[in-house]
Amino acid sequence: MKNAKLVLDKDYVISEVDKRIYGSFIEHLGRAVYTGIYEPGHPLADEEGFRSDVLGLVRQLNVPIVRYPGGNFVSGFNWEDSVGPKANRPRRLDLAWKTTETNEVGLHEFASWAKKAGSEVMYAVNLGTRGPDEARNVVEYANHRGGTYWSDLRRKNGAEDPLNIHLWCLGNEMDGPWQMCSKTAMEYGRIANEAAKLMKWVDDSIEVVACGSSSTTMPTFGDWELTMLNECYKNVDYVSLHRYYGNPHNDTEDFLASTMDLDDFIKTVVSICDAVKGKKHSKHQVNLSLDEWNVWYHSHDQDEELYKREPWGQALPLLEDIYNFEDALLVGLMLITILRNADRVKVACLAQLVNVIAPIMTRKGGGAWAQTIFYPMMDASRYGRGKSLLPVIESPRSDTKHFTDVPMMDAAATMDEAGNVTIFAVNRDLKEDCLLACDLRSFGTFREVTHTVLHHDDMKAINTEANPNEVRPVTVAAPAAGEPVLLPAASWNVIRLIK
Ligand code: AHR
Repeated sequence: MKNAKLVLDKDYVISEVDKRIYGSFIEHLGRAVYTGIYEPGHPLADEEGFRSDVLGLVRQLNVPIVRYPGGNFVSGFNWEDSVGPKANRPRRLDLAWKTTETNEVGLHEFASWAKKAGSEVMYAVNLGTRGPDEARNVVEYANHRGGTYWSDLRRKNGAEDPLNIHLWCLGNEMDGPWQMCSKTAMEYGRIANEAAKLMKWVDDSIEVVACGSSSTTMPTFGDWELTMLNECYKNVDYVSLHRYYGNPHNDTEDFLASTMDLDDFIKTVVSICDAVKGKKHSKHQVNLSLDEWNVWYHSHDQDEELYKREPWGQALPLLEDIYNFEDALLVGLMLITILRNADRVKVACLAQLVNVIAPIMTRKGGGAWAQTIFYPMMDASRYGRGKSLLPVIESPRSDTKHFTDVPMMDAAATMDEAGNVTIFAVNRDLKEDCLLACDLRSFGTFREVTHTVLHHDDMKAINTEANPNEVRPVTVAAPAAGEPVLLPAASWNVIRLIK
């Protein structure tokens, strides 16, 4: 048995939690849209063709914002193809994912789905094959009240009121050679600046996200942020970060330590933003949008095979990672890292939401179920609201292949308006339980303590349609006030202290 200690004080606050850190992502990719959220003819489809079973699961996740329509897809996408009568919408080759896009679901349909899901739309514009002109037009189409060409077209297409999209992405992963019309940092910084300017001239209430480098592993990382922000700093509100982890060599200790890298990544991008702020003598602060994060590696080989079998297919089962229990632990650790950086990470999108590297899976014509990673996301989104508290952690530490001094017990904590405290804690140790002593010196007494645990003896356990409850949280006996909490080896824990 290991011992760890957590000190919290109600006056030691990192920041208000921006609810948008519990965002997600739907791309026109694989079966995210078609046979994912949308399947007319399915027994549970609603009058618009949206699967009500999927909507039910999305509502359980409590997702406040959903990024759309890409991703790599957006860099070749003509937004105009996706509005107006469905019969007139063109079928197009999607060069990003080598598939065929029918445009049956477009801007209006997605806005309607998001409303049903209780989410806002975070809309990405194409800065790959297109540019500032199309970007400002789509803002006018979506957000201008009426009396102009684009806003009246929206009204003619059935939306009398503006769609009021507040948050916009200026392209996607523009430093990636895989991106349609990828750019140098200077080229991107200039086009992002001009696009942001025009979009904000159309609607000065919107916020925009500039593309950071597509990953820390890119040779462009760092210099890209510095160069492009130097061009567009004044006109952008957030820089994007994308990060996926995997465990291809089955080194679970090292895999679970990956959040050391995520924390470093976040802090490096914060420093670069602030360096540009300082250099420009600016009062404006650029924050972070971690708008793609997750585990992604299980489906790589299977996707290669699929492409060989069915080039230019429609709604192919691409990126269908089947997540196991250890993936859920890493997702929990990533959420802890995001919460501890809540002063600068204001938007984060679990990529993605349905079927494509997703917490929710569906079968065409069949059921919908929650993958293992669904549960930490659900817990954090449900209870991790209010203020993020500064956790002072004492924990045994160990080294892994790529990381040193990894705390075996990692945690974040939040306090809501009523003074209820929630502690999210992961015991990374795969063999030993951990006794966690919590010193909550300034909070006074709590009426009730609850404790739920996500644990499985098999790190590779999965949920399936036939067995959807193999990995799910259970409520355990909570300790008496002041007593330490038992965190089982390899577990995600939610401890709620209720006033
Ligand atoms: O989320 C899947 C893909 O990962 C996105 O389209 C792209 O932005 C990233 O490389």
